[in-house]
Amino acid sequence: MYPKQQFYINGQWLAAANLNDTIQIKNPANGKLIACTPSATEQDVDAAIAAARKAFPAWSATTAEQRKLFIIAIADEMQNRRDDLAQAITDTMGCPIEHSIQVQVQDSIDAFREFADMVGFVDETEQQQNMTQYKVAIGVCVLINPWNYPLSQLVGKLGPAMATGCTVVVKPAEQTPVQDYIMAEIFAKVGVPAGVFNLITGYGHKIGAHLCAHPEVDMVSFTGSTAAGVSVAKAAAPTIKRVCQELGGKSAMIITEDADLQAAVTYGVEDVMFNCGQTCSALTRMFVPSSCYQEAIGIAKSAAEQHIVGNPLDPNSTMGPLSSAEQQQRVIDYINIGINEGAKLVTGGTELADELKSGAYVRPTIFADVKHDMRIAQQEIFGPVLCMIAYADEQQAIEMANDSIYGLASAVYAKDTPSALKIARQLRAGQCYIQGGYFNTLGPFGGFKQSGNGREWGREGLKEYVELQAVFTPE
Ligand code: NAI
Ligand code: MG
Repeated sequence: MYPKQQFYINGQWLAAANLNDTIQIKNPANGKLIACTPSATEQDVDAAIAAARKAFPAWSATTAEQRKLFIIAIADEMQNRRDDLAQAITDTMGCPIEHSIQVQVQDSIDAFREFADMVGFVDETEQQQNMTQYKVAIGVCVLINPWNYPLSQLVGKLGPAMATGCTVVVKPAEQTPVQDYIMAEIFAKVGVPAGVFNLITGYGHKIGAHLCAHPEVDMVSFTGSTAAGVSVAKAAAPTIKRVCQELGGKSAMIITEDADLQAAVTYGVEDVMFNCGQTCSALTRMFVPSSCYQEAIGIAKSAAEQHIVGNPLDPNSTMGPLSSAEQQQRVIDYINIGINEGAKLVTGGTELADELKSGAYVRPTIFADVKHDMRIAQQEIFGPVLCMIAYADEQQAIEMANDSIYGLASAVYAKDTPSALKIARQLRAGQCYIQGGYFNTLGPFGGFKQSGNGREWGREGLKEYVELQAVFTPE
């Protein structure tokens, strides 16, 4: 059982205002209670924001070199705590331990360390004629995160905030607070000035609006569902805050007739099954030419069936449970919707072997004969469910791919990179992975349409954390 019963505010561990209201966190692999955190009240929110506000003038006045040393020291200490961070993530959201170590944690540490080289961004100026353009840290930032990549999503916000000189109040998802507590311990150990990093835990529906509406907050960076993203933006609107949103997706992958079908389909299936499909950019709609559709279904079926679903602490498991029993139920509901809509269940489905019944497991699931206007092809399922859709010609595939309220990611597998790029440039999505490419944190991550506003990571991600000031001289 993880012990923390407090919040980290103003460099101290403080008791919550209401000690009777707590959040019980269950291990999704077995349903056992593993942690309990306080549920913040508006009073706690106010205390955290006041601490961040108080710390902002001094922190934003530190030199780039000072902030760089803090970022490196934090990254070093994260490295020392790597296994604790990974264990926390596996215990709370079920990711297989090897994936937690490598992808959820090591990649996040490496990405956080990259921000040490970006501390000079806020000091960069641009000059044109009698105008000099300066940058300044935006101020107090509220960072609200989901449970699917809890450390990576924190780092993608915390890194640029620290690099530019902003102070933060972080609110992890209620299901996955532990890595944030470890980060607070790291901040305390490294000696980051009090109030730069403040942690509260709580329910979005209880304190989200108060956090986002607060007049002493300058910016909110949110990752989560589109529905909650809308609530965040509404709450922030009366005080004209900047709101950066990374929201849902229903990303399309287009495979052309002359592509390497085996490589393309396998890449697409693996992309969806990783983290049990709980990835906002997951390529959950696969568009395949009618001419090779049956062959593609066979490849997808065997790729999915190679997965070993089981205990995330067993090194043989390639897929653990979903992050919670609630998420499992949402995904099962969607699988039943797909069956009722007339899609063909190729593999997976809602049945579970006896040994998996005590956890929030869902088998890797492939639907064929999916029409692109079915609910399973339009709505974010956020589970290990791939929809395979046949197309007649490339133009039709592009139109169907773009016919979505979302526009987060996309992918193309064609004969070669130039042919794939031609299609990629016609897709209305913030990222496109071609010929099996992978994301790297130097690139901007974010979506078109209802997938969000703004970008995270890289130089574009830093821009969300600064204001511009133009100074005009007589000459
Ligand atoms: P959610 O969007 O409700 O939760 C994510 C975070 O937002 C949590 O920290 C939560 O406390 C907070 N939150 C919720 N309502 C809020 C509000 N009104 N104001 C401020 N913060 C608020 O997601 P949930 O309910 O856990 O999952 C539901 C669905 O959302 C999933 O099935 C999936 O489709 C989608 N989702 C998408 C994610 C993504 O990365 N795109 C991540 C998590 C969920
Ligand atoms: Mg919700």
